[in-house]
Amino acid sequence: MHRTRFDFSTSDIHRDYDAGRSLDPEARAVWIDDLRSSVDRPDLDLVLDLGCGTGRFTFLIRETFSSAVVLGADPAQGMLGEARGVASRGGVRLIRAEAESLPFADRTFPLVVLSMVYHHLPRPTAALREVARILRLAGLIYLRTPTLESMRSSPWDAFFPSARAISAATLPARAQVLSHASDSGVTLEAQRSVRFVLARTPQELVDKIARRAMSSLRQIPESEFGAGLSALQASCRALPPSEPIFEELEVFVLRRP
Ligand SMILES: C[S@@+](CC[C@H](N)C(=O)[O-])C[C@H]1O[C@@H](n2cnc3c(N)ncnc32)[C@H](O)[C@@H]1O
Repeated sequence: MHRTRFDFSTSDIHRDYDAGRSLDPEARAVWIDDLRSSVDRPDLDLVLDLGCGTGRFTFLIRETFSSAVVLGADPAQGMLGEARGVASRGGVRLIRAEAESLPFADRTFPLVVLSMVYHHLPRPTAALREVARILRLAGLIYLRTPTLESMRSSPWDAFFPSARAISAATLPARAQVLSHASDSGVTLEAQRSVRFVLARTPQELVDKIARRAMSSLRQIPESEFGAGLSALQASCRALPPSEPIFEELEVFVLRRP
């Protein structure tokens, strides 16, 4: 089924994004370790965080590779506006750009990161080709994305059937990502599922979901959102109050030959 992509440029999702999708210290440590083990290059000098949004991952990348300048690029002005605070911390620059047409010379970057962006790309193969163009030889793409397979681990979307249907229609299957990569001339270096703490407690999960900071939740009717949130709250009340809630995402590490 084809669906119109969620438009971050016209939505006000940026106002709730960081509060609804904050990474707690344990989750940050998981992603820093995963990035470091994927990119064994202590001398990395430049990284592109493509589709950087509010910069949630941009400064984490900077913390991981402290010798690198990290460039955050995103087409949505509202999201970039929220990222200005991150850029003011140093070592991070921001630019308005979209994946399919990047304002960089061939072979500029040793590493490009795409976090939670892939399923928003209208033309993923064209975007990956463009990313391959700006990668140095043997440069890497670190793709962090939900897939049809990983969405089964979602602790919240069963409460919002229309949001789940949107995910099912927009998320790629693992095999699709691999086929797009192969069509774009990049090779698979590694692929894995990464489990991390989404919320420290059941109540924190409810508070985060209440911000409606997931694009799928922005697209469903108010009444369904309200009913789903109440059902999620009731289900969370039945859990031990200090039980952490986990989610899984997929990582694909791709190399430009
Ligand atoms: C779910 S947010 C992820 C933001 C950030 N990377 C993170 O992990 O928090 C998706 C981002 O992808 C951006 N995006 C959508 N289409 C894009 C495109 N064609 N090229 C680059 N970024 C795009 C959106 O503007 C949005 O900021």
